[in-house]
Amino acid sequence: MASISIVFLVLSITFVAGRAQPNEPSRVRLGTSLTYPTSWPSPSHRFAFGFYPQGSGFAVGIWLVGMDTNITVVWTANRDDPPVTSKASLDFTKDGKLVLRTEQGPEQVIASGAKGPASYAVMNDSGNFVLYKNDSKITWQSFDSPTDTILQGQTLVAGAELASSLNEGDHSTGRFHLRMQTDGNLVSYPGNSGDAVSDAYWNTGTSGSGNNPHDFRFDLYLNSTGGLNLVNQSNSATVFIVNNFLISSGESNVNLNNDNNTIYRATLDVDGIFRLYSHTYDENRNVYLLLSTLRYSCDVYGFCGFNSFCTQNADQSNCHCLPGHDFVDPNRRTLGCERNFSEAGCTGGKGNAAFYNISTMENMVWGDIPYFDEIMSKEDCKSSCLEDCNCDAALFYGNSCQKQKFPLRYLRTSSNHTAFLKVGSIPKKPRLPVASDTVVITSKTAMVQIVLETLGFTVFSCVALAIFGRFIFKIRVLRYQRLLKNGNLGLPEELKRATNSFKEELGKGSFGAVYKGTLNQGKKLVAVKRLEKLVEEGEREFRAEMRAIGRTHHRNLVRLLGFCAEDSKRLLVYEYMSNGSLADLLFGAILRPDWTERLRIALDVARGILYLHEECEAPIIHCDIKPQNILMDDCWNAKISDFGLAKFLMPDQTRTFTGARGTRGYVAPEWHKNIPISVKADVYSYGIVLLEIVCCRKNIDLNASAAEEIVLSSWAYKCFAARDLYKLVIGEEVDIMSLEKMVKVGLWCIQEEPALRPSMKSAVLMLEGITEIPVPPCPTTPSM
Ligand SMILES: *[C@@H]1O[C@H](CO)[C@@H](O)[C@H](O)[C@H]1NC(C)=O
Ligand SMILES: *[C@@H]1O[C@H](CO)[C@@H](O)[C@H](O)[C@H]1NC(C)=O
Ligand SMILES: *[C@@H]1O[C@H](CO)[C@@H](O)[C@H](O)[C@H]1NC(C)=O
Ligand SMILES: *[C@@H]1O[C@H](CO)[C@@H](O)[C@H](O)[C@H]1NC(C)=O
Ligand SMILES: *[C@@H]1O[C@H](CO)[C@@H](O)[C@H](O)[C@H]1NC(C)=O
Ligand SMILES: *[C@@H]1O[C@H](CO)[C@@H](O)[C@H](O)[C@H]1NC(C)=O
Ligand SMILES: *[C@@H]1O[C@H](CO)[C@@H](O)[C@H](O)[C@H]1NC(C)=O
Ligand SMILES: *[C@@H]1O[C@H](CO)[C@@H](O)[C@H](O)[C@H]1NC(C)=O
Ligand SMILES: *[C@@H]1O[C@H](CO)[C@@H](O)[C@H](O)[C@H]1NC(C)=O
Repeated sequence: MASISIVFLVLSITFVAGRAQPNEPSRVRLGTSLTYPTSWPSPSHRFAFGFYPQGSGFAVGIWLVGMDTNITVVWTANRDDPPVTSKASLDFTKDGKLVLRTEQGPEQVIASGAKGPASYAVMNDSGNFVLYKNDSKITWQSFDSPTDTILQGQTLVAGAELASSLNEGDHSTGRFHLRMQTDGNLVSYPGNSGDAVSDAYWNTGTSGSGNNPHDFRFDLYLNSTGGLNLVNQSNSATVFIVNNFLISSGESNVNLNNDNNTIYRATLDVDGIFRLYSHTYDENRNVYLLLSTLRYSCDVYGFCGFNSFCTQNADQSNCHCLPGHDFVDPNRRTLGCERNFSEAGCTGGKGNAAFYNISTMENMVWGDIPYFDEIMSKEDCKSSCLEDCNCDAALFYGNSCQKQKFPLRYLRTSSNHTAFLKVGSIPKKPRLPVASDTVVITSKTAMVQIVLETLGFTVFSCVALAIFGRFIFKIRVLRYQRLLKNGNLGLPEELKRATNSFKEELGKGSFGAVYKGTLNQGKKLVAVKRLEKLVEEGEREFRAEMRAIGRTHHRNLVRLLGFCAEDSKRLLVYEYMSNGSLADLLFGAILRPDWTERLRIALDVARGILYLHEECEAPIIHCDIKPQNILMDDCWNAKISDFGLAKFLMPDQTRTFTGARGTRGYVAPEWHKNIPISVKADVYSYGIVLLEIVCCRKNIDLNASAAEEIVLSSWAYKCFAARDLYKLVIGEEVDIMSLEKMVKVGLWCIQEEPALRPSMKSAVLMLEGITEIPVPPCPTTPSM
């Protein structure tokens, strides 16, 4: 309450003072500083520079002073930095830099002379904050780096863009941008969409095709009477009047003029629509909406997030989920929706139609290229999607049937289109499933269990198992008994011998040490893992779990050959992997594996995880996918190790655990939030590993040559967005198509929002080139 009245007081004083002495340009001198709630006003006191309230703190920017405390922010410094506290100060230092000092972090430079040191600053009446050199030449101005607004007299130069704010109260970068393209076209896109032609939701259509591209380079200029013009860079002539492309609001003030009492402002608003406003400075200060690019928020691509569509009711735009989907966050409906059912498996080329129903929506269309587009009848289209386990949705138009995978975006109404959506009946998978117990291989007296490699899993062995099941069981019991007769106390002793008293340590993992050993009179090399630091786990649960792991069989998983559990001793016997880990290969080797090799490894790992998630009896979440846990066998096949063990390290499986499992740099963001962990956490870690495979470097590399390259995941996105992918693999011979494919899949996998990440199955299909890969959004897109 106190702070509110202070604001009111200060602004009223400012306002009164403004009337008293107009148009006296006041210089901000070197050595001056500023704290909230004082500000540096423009001579007319219509604009001010300083701290304004944002969220729970303050941001630095320029605003239009309105009635009372109502301000219109037109520019924000370092807009994506977190708000500062009221203790922060702005200092115009002796060496001519404008710096922000806070209690917490290091000082940040807001502005410094680009063309020589500044010797004074002016908050100009045009809304431009300017640093001048001692010869009164401009060395920096806020007009050169617009955020979401241009003011009258301001230019958006060719190649520059406006980005909308996150929401009305938060001016950090939001979800849309308006780009003055160098081809002469002024275009709106959803943020981080890749800016393909199909992403554009509004444009002036002024791109040139002339012989001299420079003749079509325009700047966008807002003149003093509210005229938005495209100005030819070559001869500074007004070429196109953008106002003609805009929709009039029908407000009274549309006669564009300027009697010195009006300020024009064009802003890319939070909803992605570019609007022209006027602020009048007569006795009743009014704000008028004059023109806008689109009438309704629903007309903006991506206004509603993935898997949701928009309905317009008068001025209200509402987002709704597709059938079978729920809001990612019910309080932020523009964020999009996620499936509320699980995908049915799609193994062996068989369909999975039995698990789905088709929901039909008329007059609905969406963006993105389908992976399938053929002519057929409406009924055939419907059943074709139902029976195709890669199909999540189909669009029927005229006589063509287009099949698509989730997520769907840019959903909008369009007559004569029919959408078919597959809605599943399998409820979402439980967070941490417990393996079912179907095969029991045990003996009455056994404290020890072993699933030895005799259980070879060939096509024949399935048959053999069925026929000779009893026989094998007998052999097992006999062998075990023989061990006992030989004076062994049980397998721990046997393994102690096999590993030469745990002499040769291969490495140490999060669960304990791993030793090299031999079985079968030295014929078979094994790795023995001694589990330590485990939570107390019932003997029965442990065995059930190990048996489940023992039954997993996939060429990209390290095979568990046997285990024993006796009192506190827990030993796991794995096949021996002679070529070390993927980490050694990627980060340690002198010679990088070549590109095709890396492609193959990436797919190997993906298939291994896919098997864990979807193809073994009960889904297994690995929880710690990283290159150190991916081992290379004799033939350099990548195999995942340590799966199925995560739950033994967890304090309580029934609760949402927030203490981070996994390894820094690879763990999904949800580990740090209070949200349930799903298979998507592994997908995230896989995405990081995939990018590491692409670049042969660690996700976090403090020795990177530039600061922006330190974190690979954000560097990769930067390169992708700037179409500079080659920067990721400089000096290497790579296939650019597969490079783009891998990076796109990687970026999808590391989306902050788990629902946006593909399933492991989709990731494999994309890597194999079977399905199209939509353009990934920024992994950490801030959302409304
Ligand atoms: C503040 O200004 C905005 C327009 O910029 C207007 O919509 C709103 O009603 C104003 N609020 C008050 C309290 O005057
Ligand atoms: C300062 O404002 C005046 C009047 O609004 C304008 O003519 C001039 O161009 C502005 N200067 C800068 C550097 O923006
Ligand atoms: C402006 O500063 C430069 C050095 O920064 C100095 O050489 C020059 O003499 C100064 N000019 C005036 C007019 O003070
Ligand atoms: C821009 O100016 C150049 C040089 O005067 C001229 O050749 C060109 O045609 C102009 N472009 C357009 C689109 O008018
Ligand atoms: C501003 O632009 C509009 C549209 O091009 C034009 O009609 C008007 O004359 C311009 N105003 C000034 C002051 O140049
Ligand atoms: C607007 O202000 C300028 C100078 O600030 C002045 O020359 C001009 O006459 C004014 N126009 C009107 C209509 O008041
Ligand atoms: C999923 O959402 C649909 C509505 O789209 C609802 O009818 C269904 O009950 C939901 N299923 C689950 C498992 O929540
Ligand atoms: C499909 O719909 C029918 C009728 O509503 C229902 O009985 C059946 O369980 C549904 N099947 C699936 C797989 O959702
Ligand atoms: C939709 O179909 C009807 C009848 O076939 C046709 O008259 C109409 O023009 C179509 N609309 C569009 C937008 O194609």
